[in-house]
Amino acid sequence: MAVTFIRIAVIYIAVGATLGIIMGIKGDFALAPVHAHINLLGFATLAIAGLVYRAFPAAATTRLARAHFWLHNLALPVFMISLGFMLSGNAAWLPVVIVSSLLVLLALYVFGLNIWMSIKPAD
Ligand code: HEM
Ligand code: HEM
Repeated sequence: MAVTFIRIAVIYIAVGATLGIIMGIKGDFALAPVHAHINLLGFATLAIAGLVYRAFPAAATTRLARAHFWLHNLALPVFMISLGFMLSGNAAWLPVVIVSSLLVLLALYVFGLNIWMSIKPAD
């Protein structure tokens, strides 16, 4: 599970950094929040989760760990794509942005719950 998190994380940084370069070349920073959160929620958060699971293997094998992985990685692309459309001037995507961002938030809560339930002070 730790390896899967980290392998997915580096895909997000490739996409996020590419978007950063494209924004720089075009001089159009409208998608900066999308760029920031692909890198931060996609790369930084998932890579750190992967390292946490490497450090505490007991936490990596739970159903909550799998729930976090799938919820995060299904909702985040929808969140980023719909936010991109919305910031490009298409306000109709707002409901999708709201639902998908709340699902990512839920995924982060599941991660937190998993850590609290499966890591003991003695670990
Ligand atoms: C090749 C790599 C990258 C390039 C070319 C790049 C480029 C950019 C550009 C052009 C902006 C917009 C600046 C502005 O609005 O004036 C920006 C903003 C930002 N970037 Fe990157 N970036 C890169 C990697 C990263 C990474 C790895 C992270 C985080 C892990 C990151 C986090 C952010 C954040 C938080 C912002 C502010 C977004 C905002 O103002 O809404 N960037 N980046
Ligand atoms: C469900 C999760 C999240 C949601 C819904 C969310 C939402 C937002 C919103 C609405 C903004 C203001 C955007 C604007 O400039 O108009 C923002 C900014 C920002 N967020 Fe998040 N965020 C989330 C997770 C995170 C995480 C996990 C990180 C860091 C690891 C992060 C780092 C930042 C940073 C650095 C900015 C400021 C970017 C700037 O300078 O404009 N966010 N976020």
